[in-house]
Amino acid sequence: MSDHERSAGLSRRDLLKGAALAGAGLAASGAFTPAIAEHITAATHPDLAPPAPAARATMKGVRFERRDAVRFGIVGTGLRGRSVLSELLAIEGVQIVAVCDTVAEKTARAVKMCTDRGQPAPAVYTDGDHGFEALVARDDIDFVYTATPWEWHVPVLLAALKSGKHCGSECPIGTTLKDLWALVDASEKARRHCLHLENCNYGETEMLVNRLVHEGVFGEILHAEAAYLHDLRKILFEDRDEGLWRRAWHTRSNSNLYPTHGLGPVSGYLDINAGDRYDYLVSVGGPHRGLELHREATVADHANPKWQEQYVTGDHNTSILRTVKGKTVMLQHDVSNPRPYTRHNRVQGTKGAFEDYPPRIYVEGQAGGERWGAIDEWKAKFTHPLWAENGERARKNGGHGGMDFIMAYRLVQTLREGLVPDSDVYDAATWSAPLPLSEMSVAKGSAPMKFPDFTRGAFAAVGATG
Ligand SMILES: NC(=O)c1ccc[n+]([C@@H]2O[C@H](COP(=O)([O-])OP(=O)(O)OC[C@H]3O[C@@H](n4cnc5c(N)ncnc54)[C@H](O)[C@@H]3O)[C@@H](O)[C@H]2O)c1
Repeated sequence: MSDHERSAGLSRRDLLKGAALAGAGLAASGAFTPAIAEHITAATHPDLAPPAPAARATMKGVRFERRDAVRFGIVGTGLRGRSVLSELLAIEGVQIVAVCDTVAEKTARAVKMCTDRGQPAPAVYTDGDHGFEALVARDDIDFVYTATPWEWHVPVLLAALKSGKHCGSECPIGTTLKDLWALVDASEKARRHCLHLENCNYGETEMLVNRLVHEGVFGEILHAEAAYLHDLRKILFEDRDEGLWRRAWHTRSNSNLYPTHGLGPVSGYLDINAGDRYDYLVSVGGPHRGLELHREATVADHANPKWQEQYVTGDHNTSILRTVKGKTVMLQHDVSNPRPYTRHNRVQGTKGAFEDYPPRIYVEGQAGGERWGAIDEWKAKFTHPLWAENGERARKNGGHGGMDFIMAYRLVQTLREGLVPDSDVYDAATWSAPLPLSEMSVAKGSAPMKFPDFTRGAFAAVGATG
């Protein structure tokens, strides 16, 4: 069997979820019930668990239809949209049918990228904030991908689902529980997938660790740590690209603003929505100083509107999640202070541990005693087939060390070969939910917030999909 055949035949469980191994022993011991604040219940906060629509069926385990080529429509051709476009253009069987952006210059750059690669020029939609509605209504698109500012992800995805299109979004997929539930209900109603295209799930290290977890190398998994600690001050204050919209979120929400890069991979290690689920979250936010200090240092003109902004997001947010089987996750966010980048990417089990940045492993009894070891030997044995097959190509053609290429390649592979996608709308909603949940928890003095079960009970089926 070739590497390609192996990776094409991998089920979603093999890829990102897990075997029944992990957590089996923890299920029985999860007897502790937290004192959830009485005023935060499903009755007083209906967004935590709205009633299910009368007719619904799960999207877990639903296959894409098989197709020879995948026809994409792209909404938002800024930095990220064009980056993913360049990866899609490097993959066989991809056609870019239409592109949309509110800024004509951005679509023009995307069109040129397509024609430079020998593809026909895609149709262009630049008709204001709602121009995407005409794009999603076309009948020659299989998958709508959106890379707009956060506030536009949900309108684009809902319109795509309503038009019967599979769709996927950048992070976070939505910013309120109400919107996340709306995506779940719309995906189930349309019988179309709505995915969070989380590139970090496809990192070489993350895919390796996921395999090690599910091979039982670390024993039963007890705890994991995830983060987005990335000094974005310069980008946030630019007068272009993300500087035009992302800083505004720091005036709106005191929360863990960007949870998915860290939480996506870790949720795979913990079999979230495939045997376990998050039960509740508590969150603390520290002081906000980084953006104020950066403004003082870099915005000399006090008439600049940036001086009117009041930042409310605590620079360093620490949230803790507990699963119904009793495992814990620490999730941190800070984009406003100087430091090297990390997503933590840590996991602790009964037999050992892994930590990233830089990657290091400890398995009880390993040579060298109680100190971290290199991962090279593990890599030689357990590198994921998708990386074994495509690693060189990925590093050459893909952003973020190649994981962006692997994400795009795998999306196209699942769409062409009629496979179950590696994640679904329940995962998408789960990975983004810490944004609103942490906001509510911080506002209520770090009260525990019940975590919605977006699967409405289907999480318990271990490896039910794929
Ligand atoms: N996965 C990753 O590694 C990664 C990296 C960077 C950004 N992102 C995410 O990608 C998304 C886009 O970020 P970016 O860096 O490309 O920002 P950007 O500002 O460069 O691009 C956003 C684009 O959306 C366009 N736009 C705004 N409103 C629109 C609308 N209503 N319809 C169509 N287009 C619209 C803007 O004109 C702009 O070209 C964000 O969600 C961001 O968090 C993800």
